[in-house]
Amino acid sequence: MANLIGVAGSLRRNSINRALLCAASGVMPPGSELAIVDIAGIPLYNGDLEEAEGIPAAVRELQDQIAGSDGLVIATPEYNSGMPGVLKNVMDWLSRPPEQIGRVFRDRPVAIMGASPGGFGTVSAQATWLPVLKALGARTWSGGRMLVSGAGKVFDDGGEMIDESVRDRLATFMAGFVEFTSG
Ligand code: FNR
Repeated sequence: MANLIGVAGSLRRNSINRALLCAASGVMPPGSELAIVDIAGIPLYNGDLEEAEGIPAAVRELQDQIAGSDGLVIATPEYNSGMPGVLKNVMDWLSRPPEQIGRVFRDRPVAIMGASPGGFGTVSAQATWLPVLKALGARTWSGGRMLVSGAGKVFDDGGEMIDESVRDRLATFMAGFVEFTSG
């Protein structure tokens, strides 16, 4: 049983990565939940803003949500073979001030998944998160992989997952991660 937080690295209304998280929340093992958070209110990181106004309320709220969770699920788009700036920006804010890193990230179980219309299912972007999560001291789960390629055929126009074999893989992935969070 686990209470997880899910964050998608896209602000797009029809984001396939948010759609992937929504599908994941629908296949959670009994007794476990995945709450999807909204990152639209988080500004671009600017040290001057931090100095003048402190940590934005939207960042503090997300820090508290992650700190109070059993694990974090990242659904990452892939941009130019790497992570999207919008989600790196969120992670950078979450690591501020540095004293928060322990509370928010240290030993926090983290699972990485991602969806792409292309053929490689965000494999390169997922790899670029590993050094970031290592630097933050998170416990990144490596027991499963969730690479969704050809997303145009996996989701319908409303973002519903319509490929049952991908849904089965997703359920296995989430069950594996939930088990990892209790270890
Ligand atoms: C992309 N896209 C992309 N896809 C991929 O598989 N590998 C890549 O390297 C890239 N590079 C890339 C760069 C930029 C600037 C954009 C805007 C897009 C396509 C990307 O996977 C696609 O737009 C997804 O739909 C983005 O995810 P969301 O926003 O739908 O969650």
